[in-house]
Amino acid sequence: MGKGHVAKELKFTELRGISKRQIEEHHGTLYKGYVRKLNEIEEKLQTADPAEANATFSQIRELKMEKCFATNAMYLHEGYFANLGGDGKAKGKIAELITQDFGSLERWEKDFRAAGIAARGWVVLAYNWYDRRLHNYSSDYHTQGIWNSSPLLILDVYEHAYMIDFGVARAKYLDAFFANIDWDEVNKRVEALRIEAHRKGTI
Ligand SMILES: [Fe+2]
Repeated sequence: MGKGHVAKELKFTELRGISKRQIEEHHGTLYKGYVRKLNEIEEKLQTADPAEANATFSQIRELKMEKCFATNAMYLHEGYFANLGGDGKAKGKIAELITQDFGSLERWEKDFRAAGIAARGWVVLAYNWYDRRLHNYSSDYHTQGIWNSSPLLILDVYEHAYMIDFGVARAKYLDAFFANIDWDEVNKRVEALRIEAHRKGTI
């Protein structure tokens, strides 16, 4: 049995327009809770009896379902917090890729913001390895996503992400999100995935 997942600490101390209390509730309580629960699920899977597997109800079924939920919750939140703490100015390779696929940064942002208003959970700018292009994907819960796509920029639009600071004024939260995007972090993801080479078909 492994040691389990260890919650990642924040890389920033404060954000522009998003309060410390909002971040603390979200990161310190919610996110860390997901990590703890994922460890608990994985531990219980070690001893769950495979012979009792059943699609209506079984321990294996419940644990496997919630493992997906908690795993996505953990990684989506880690990606979200890690792509905050910057100056909000789109730059580098990601700016080029967005311009190629969406026509301009402005058109991309308009679509991403609209997705942010329309979604109930997440908006993810992702690279799809099938069609080799970027998409703004929306999801209503942690377990809804597109297979074989890699998240590059992650936005959490659950109410818990902004209610303390903005009430139900989600558009104001989106302004704050955009002002704090760490585009260097997004560019690191683009580099690590070798997306440019993949688009050119050299890998
Ligand atoms: Fe969240």
